[in-house]
Amino acid sequence: MRLTVIGTGYLGAVHAACMADIGHDVLGVDVDTEKIDALAEGRTPFYEPGLDDVLTRALASGRLRFTTSLREAAAHGEVHFVCVGTPQQAGSQAADLRYVDAVVDGLAPHLPASCLVVGKSTVPVGTTGRLTARIAGLAPAGVRAEVAWNPEFLREGFAVEDTLRPDRLVVGVTSREADATLRQVYAPMLEAGVPYISTDPSTAELVKVAANSFLATKISFINAMAEVCDAAGADVVTLADALGHDTRIGRRFLNAGLGFGGGCLPKDIRAFTARAQELGVGAAVAFLDQVDEINQRQRARTVALARQAVGGDLTGRRVTVLGATFKPNSDDVRDSPALAVAAALHREGADVRVHDPEGSANARRAHPELRCTDDLLTACQGAELLLHLTEWSQYREVDPVKLSRVVREPVLIDGRNALAHEEWRAAGWTVEALGRPA
Ligand code: UGA
Repeated sequence: MRLTVIGTGYLGAVHAACMADIGHDVLGVDVDTEKIDALAEGRTPFYEPGLDDVLTRALASGRLRFTTSLREAAAHGEVHFVCVGTPQQAGSQAADLRYVDAVVDGLAPHLPASCLVVGKSTVPVGTTGRLTARIAGLAPAGVRAEVAWNPEFLREGFAVEDTLRPDRLVVGVTSREADATLRQVYAPMLEAGVPYISTDPSTAELVKVAANSFLATKISFINAMAEVCDAAGADVVTLADALGHDTRIGRRFLNAGLGFGGGCLPKDIRAFTARAQELGVGAAVAFLDQVDEINQRQRARTVALARQAVGGDLTGRRVTVLGATFKPNSDDVRDSPALAVAAALHREGADVRVHDPEGSANARRAHPELRCTDDLLTACQGAELLLHLTEWSQYREVDPVKLSRVVREPVLIDGRNALAHEEWRAAGWTVEALGRPA
């Protein structure tokens, strides 16, 4: 099928490459010429394991091309996937829909024939209906563009795997034809047995924000328990393990620590709250404010733990932060808890070095005041305190005996509860963590 994927950021670049990989004829579209040039040459503009291979394969097959022209996109596509960002609006909790609107406005007047426009971005419930009216007002006479919503659930770091083998496909449609078209697009996945949920657009839009709200709530729940554990001298990791054995609860997303960040969870729960308030049901999701608050508090708690670990005053103290990205296997530093803590330590006068295997360039751009490096030993040289804030696997492989020879004081705060504390203690380290007895 002839598809376009409009917006080649995280979501769009992966979707475009994967759709070409499963046999479609795909045109990727973006306003950013640099990004388009890079993708067309097989270079991914961000770090995502496995994407390079799929992109190279798709380009070599001749089924994937890129352009900056929405006019060309209109001419190419039977199905247009909208994958542009919906960031948090400046000065508000709500989602900023200007990029989604701009796609529709740029595409609709050039549509040569009836087609399907499929939104994948995370949007406030009701967006499909609004866009349907917007396109109808702009499309040439006689051209009908149906809008459907097909939310994306991919995780950074597993984006290719999640796209090619998703847990489920959810489509919100208003006609049988749209449903049939989407079944055809995803035929290889359906043949492989991926559950396919076809529903109305509002439900589909809501599935996405409900899923991210649930995940955020699960993380904040265990972090709230960590605070109680700290007060009671209990151990949150054992608590999470014990809870997780109950299959109704499950162990995943019960990792207590510094909490969630990134381009999705934080802004999605805020946008959901804002939309629910518009719909007059703000009270129903008021708990999400608490979820957000608990999450932010873990950053403050980690800074307090650091202050305490160096005797009450961070001024002039040499501190090393391990990890800058919001999660491992990504170079994404958007709303990164690790960087927020690093910046707060710096504001308190600490001499901060940040290490990240993939995110140091982005970290330097976001926080020029911090010294970021991708060399671990350089970052740790002379440190009086180490904070492990993003759980890259390479930090688990570090030899604590060797590292203790490089630092000035062997003191570790494990903000992700992911290191083998007993091993570090045996190597002479003092280890502190949220929700764990000292
Ligand atoms: C999240 C969802 O997991 C995806 O399903 C969704 O498609 C995506 O948002 C999106 O809306 O686009 P992602 O932002 O890539 O994916 O990251 P997650 O793996 O969900 O992690 C989010 C944050 O939660 C990270 O900062 C991570 O460190 C933190 N986290 C996760 C915890 O603090 N504890 C946990 O137990 C799990």
